[in-house]
Amino acid sequence: MAEAQDKGRIGLLAGKRILLIIGGGIAAYKALELIRRLRERGASVRCVMTKAAHEFVTPLSVASLSGEPVNEELFSLTDEAEMGHIQLSRAADLLVVAPATANLLARMAGGLADDLATTLLLATDKPVLAAPAMNVRMWLHPATTANVALLRQRGVLFVGPEDGDMACGEYGPGRLSEPMDILHAVEDFFAVTPAPGVLAGRRVLVTSGPTHEPIDPVRYLANRSSGKQGHAIAAALQAAGAEVTLVTGPVTLPDPVGVTVLRVETAQQMADACRRVAAEGGARDAAICAAAVADWHVVPADEKLKKDGSGTPPALRLQENPDILSGLSAPGPGRPALVVGFAAETEKVAEHGRAKRLRKGCDWLLANDVSTGSGTFGGEENAVLLIAADGEEAWPRMSKVALATRLARRIADHFTGEASAAE
Ligand code: PMT
Repeated sequence: MAEAQDKGRIGLLAGKRILLIIGGGIAAYKALELIRRLRERGASVRCVMTKAAHEFVTPLSVASLSGEPVNEELFSLTDEAEMGHIQLSRAADLLVVAPATANLLARMAGGLADDLATTLLLATDKPVLAAPAMNVRMWLHPATTANVALLRQRGVLFVGPEDGDMACGEYGPGRLSEPMDILHAVEDFFAVTPAPGVLAGRRVLVTSGPTHEPIDPVRYLANRSSGKQGHAIAAALQAAGAEVTLVTGPVTLPDPVGVTVLRVETAQQMADACRRVAAEGGARDAAICAAAVADWHVVPADEKLKKDGSGTPPALRLQENPDILSGLSAPGPGRPALVVGFAAETEKVAEHGRAKRLRKGCDWLLANDVSTGSGTFGGEENAVLLIAADGEEAWPRMSKVALATRLARRIADHFTGEASAAE
């Protein structure tokens, strides 16, 4: 089975250029095996070692296995003469950090550029995959948790760490993933990442985040959406070359780079903004509705509602909001070529998702489980069932960034397939 899976991956790394940044941890020895595996699969591997990495592996073994010189110093006259650090950070298809120590992750999160490794990570315009390795308490420390969450938010991909016995005698999460698992994560990245520019010329609308429906000047109805999924989708589509307009409810996330962002508060405002974008052609090729739009609003009171001493709470009369997804899906001349909705379900996810796709009229629907304990709302990961007229695909649990990348690839493949069918 594992062999068959492995066969399906053959060729994914042929000609790919990996920049491997080796951090200083006891697990650094596994980087040697990783270099061997990557090269076996046809990738070229250029390595950078942090100063601390020298305590665990030698530059000579790294250079011999990679077949390339090892870069170590930020201000090295020879290295700069041969290949400047900016160029080194851009020449790769993917940067892999393994082992990514607590210190290295902290420096990445803080945007430091105090050695060659962190300078490259700050200067790169390429995706980064980190394989953390550290003591269990360091991994579970709130500082590391916050750094990892921030890096994920910025699009850094992660593999591991694994649970197990640690070199320090403790047990728990913090072990570096096995080289084969890191290799598979690298292959998965290339399997699902759309080719750069493949969506060039495509105009796409994405909705994201919650809506806030005011009750009075100080209170509102809301939901737990953070916007992480929708924002990641906007970023992934932009990275694949699409011209993206993101209409977002109130979130605390930074705007995705290179995306036109329209901020709204209520469902009505989101509906109006989407209608305007669609009328101007900004949703010509696709609309992805990832926002958790409130189904209802109340007519807000002009003044703050007060307790009147009677013990009877005020009655909130709910009125239905416009359905943005149904509106965009309606047949007509301005309809986006592809409309993708989400379904947030707490039970019978597949069944309700199928019914919702038909009711709303979208082409694809990504049904996700948002039941208590799923962590989907606000969390870093998601698993979906992609429901289309011609079939379904179960996408396993992965980071929201990885899911967004996979969706961008799926959309690109859809358009490429249509184009070749038309030829
Ligand atoms: O934001 P995160 O914390 O990252 O969480 C991601 C998510 C759980 C919000 C996301 O993955 C998701 O499921 N988004 C859709 C949430 C939702 O409102 O689902 P729904 O089943 O209530 O609505 C179905 C679809 O109709 C959705 O595409 C929604 O955007 C759309 N809709 C709903 C109501 C409405 N008035 N207008 C709409 O367009």
